[in-house]
Amino acid sequence: MARRRFVPASALTGAVVAPADKSISHRAALIAAMGDGACRISRYLDAADTRSTLGAIESLGAAVRVDGDPGGSLSIEIEGVGLRGPRASAPIDVGNAGTLIRLITGWLAGQEGRSFELDGDDSIRARPMGRIADPLTEMGARIATRDGSAPLRVEGAALAGIDHTLAVASAQAKSCLLFAGLLAEGSTTVREPQPTRDHTERMLKAAGASIDSVPRTALPTGPSPAAVTVEPAERLALPDLTVPGDLSSAAFQIAAGLLVPGSAVRVEGVGLNPTRVGLLGVLNRMGARIEVEETGWQAGEPVGSITARHGELRATRVSGSEVPLAIDELPLVALLGCFAEGETTVADAQELRHKESDRIATVVEGLGAVGAEIEATDDGFVVSGTGSLVGGTIESAGDHRIAMLGAVAGLASDRGVDVDGIEAAEVSYPGFESDLAALGA
Ligand code: S3P
Repeated sequence: MARRRFVPASALTGAVVAPADKSISHRAALIAAMGDGACRISRYLDAADTRSTLGAIESLGAAVRVDGDPGGSLSIEIEGVGLRGPRASAPIDVGNAGTLIRLITGWLAGQEGRSFELDGDDSIRARPMGRIADPLTEMGARIATRDGSAPLRVEGAALAGIDHTLAVASAQAKSCLLFAGLLAEGSTTVREPQPTRDHTERMLKAAGASIDSVPRTALPTGPSPAAVTVEPAERLALPDLTVPGDLSSAAFQIAAGLLVPGSAVRVEGVGLNPTRVGLLGVLNRMGARIEVEETGWQAGEPVGSITARHGELRATRVSGSEVPLAIDELPLVALLGCFAEGETTVADAQELRHKESDRIATVVEGLGAVGAEIEATDDGFVVSGTGSLVGGTIESAGDHRIAMLGAVAGLASDRGVDVDGIEAAEVSYPGFESDLAALGA
């Protein structure tokens, strides 16, 4: 395990390009693999999680040709196996990638007459899979779990469409069922208690699937879950695409810009899908000095630049429907809360307990160990803004977002932070440290 020290930084300035979006990269590889024919993906995220997805689709029979690696991303061409074509002779290793295991299982569940095994690292084996296995079983799938978690054994079966309301707002669970719905008989409708990221819907539509989304507020019956309906498909063909930058990764550079005195940091090429930008609303309420400029579209998603300048922050509360729209950025809200005036609260975020680590526990332990006044609640945390962090040691617990949180905490601290297990950042953002260095850290 590698330990790295992040010392108090003087002003961070300059611009970096956001690394490619992890969620969109996973989906692009999977949907291209489901297609007939070739699809070229530019700026595919070159990180551990998204490499697991390339390995998985290759083991299912897709051909992946890498023909360029311009730093942090790959240019790839994927020759699909077709919606009904995947077969595997060995277990599929998903590594640390929750998105991969949940999404791919939806596709594999409908492969009649074939079986598949899926497994991953210790973190994957601790994550709940009932949220996909239960509704898939309702569709006719045959899935065996180990006490509700991986390893999974999938016996492909004939599926029938269902109308299902998700127990938790999870884009991974929604996407899994939409993939299964492509192979089912009849329509499949997935209702989500709160809107979650919609990259799957956008990309499946682009690939020729029939997807109908009804937003939460537009249902004639009043406040009801948002609903997405997918129809069975014969074939898919994903057009060539360029993956937008990942706001969840850019958020670490943005937070560093907001917290280190004198800083002005610009992150370019960031995906600004409305179902991903919950953090920007939170930052606005905190009085953060951010500017967002939309510059165009990539892969059917809006893209732009975000500039963050150091300044005073005030406390806020994040809860309810804002939570899924900022789910991966909530650890950073805790860090920002340490420097904000007043008490910052994150509530309704029980889901944080089921991420790559129990992020309520790891955020509270990590920031607490470097001087934060932070307390865990069942469904989030409460932070008293003191305006500073002394420093110390933060353990990443093998969680990429906790490793990067520790690094930014170090830059903003009085004495510096040692991050134990900094290599976890490779899961989503291998260029994290070099981008910080390019900004002067
Ligand atoms: C993701 C969805 C979110 C998020 C994860 C990636 C996705 O998880 O936390 O990092 O790509 O669909 P849930 O949908 O399970 O909340």
